[in-house]
Order: sequence, then structure tokens, then C-alpha cells
Amino acid sequence: MTQGSGVWITLEGGDGSGKTTQATLLADWLTDVGRTVVRTREPGGSDVGLLIRDIVLHHRGDIAPRAEALLYAADRAHHVATIVRPALERGEVVLQDRYLDSSVAYQGAGRVLDGTEIRELSLWAAEGALPDLTILLDLDPDIARDRLDSADKPFDRLEAEKSDFHRRVRDAFLALAAAEPQRFLVLDAAQDPARIAETIRAKVQHVLR
Ligand code: TYD
Repeated sequence: MTQGSGVWITLEGGDGSGKTTQATLLADWLTDVGRTVVRTREPGGSDVGLLIRDIVLHHRGDIAPRAEALLYAADRAHHVATIVRPALERGEVVLQDRYLDSSVAYQGAGRVLDGTEIRELSLWAAEGALPDLTILLDLDPDIARDRLDSADKPFDRLEAEKSDFHRRVRDAFLALAAAEPQRFLVLDAAQDPARIAETIRAKVQHVLR
């Protein structure tokens, strides 16, 4: 979404793929080169979003698949309108953990909902807004699971899903990246984090305005 000199970068990947580490490294570098960085995330990047995040990640018991998809879309609508667009209009760099590709991959991986419909729903929510660059940290779900196990934190609703689900999520992300190669940078998240960060910086340099 081109708006002045603002640049919008999203990070995607399965749980435990190292998005937070890379976001921190990239934010530090962007700040060093003189850019103002807004770090944010979905779900939960806004005040309303925090309330929605609590429902989607911590509600005990089932949430109907369409209700879940609408909750993520509601979070997205408010987040893009109140955080992302204003920052881009100010010329800042928005560095965002997860966006609509996560909805297509996760809500679509439950098999009940159609990925195209979920994408349409999200695009409606965000008035068609798409990032300038999406970094996909691709990782075998079994390796990701080992990382999460050793992190010693309680699992949220989605992390606790079966490994078959996480394999479908991974495949969905790769299919999304293949369909939009101009927006995506796909990286092997099993590599050394410093090496991944270097590749990301090289790509981001081209996207900065
Ligand atoms: P979070 O704790 O932010 O996890 P991570 O550090 O892995 O990003 O939890 C976000 C969870 O929400 C994650 O399991 C993916 C899921 N999710 C969806 O299912 N749909 C969505 O649209 C988004 C944005 C996230």
C-alpha cells in the first residue's frame, strides 16, 4: 500500500518460526538508518484489538469457525484504520507481526472455511490494504514445536492444535507466497538468525522510499 514515504512490512510464519527475533533485529536496523518504526501485530495491535485477542487466543471452549474468522477480521479493520494507515501517512515504517495471510493460512487450515472467502473478508475489512513486503519465515512444524516446547510458556488455543493442522498452515503460507512472488520474501527459518536478518535487510533496502 503506497502512501507517501511510508512502508508497510508484515512478517508471517508458523508459531515458533522466529518472527519476533527478526522483527526486533529489523526494527533496530531501520532505526539506525534513521527511520521511525511502528512495531505492531495482529491480533491485538490496537486497544479494541487487545480485547479481541483475548477472546481468540484464550477463550475456553470452541468458537464457531465463521465467528473466529470475523473476530480476526474485526481486529484487522480497526487496526488498519487506526494504527497502520495513520503511520503510513506520517511516512513511518510499519513493521507488523501477522496480517491477512495468517487468516487465510490458519482459518483456512481448519478445512471448514474457504481460503478465498477469508481473503475477501479480510480485504473488505481493511479496505483492500496490502503490505509493500511480506516476509515469510518458513519452518518445518516439528522443528517449530521443539522450539516452542523449550520456550516453556503455556500454549495458546492455536499453538495447541495438532501437528497435521500446522502442516496445512505451512503449506497454505507457501502457496500464498507462490501466488504473489512480488509481495513475498520466503526464507528458510532454520538458518542462523543473523544470516536471515542480513537477507531481510538487503530486501528491505529496496523497498524503502
Ligand atoms: P501470537 O501469540 O501473536 O503468536 P505468534 O507469536 O506465533 O505470532 O498468536 C497469534 C496466533 O493467532 C497465532 O497462532 C496465529 C493466529 N492467527 C490466526 O489464526 N488468524 C489470524 O488472522 C491471525 C492474525 C493470527
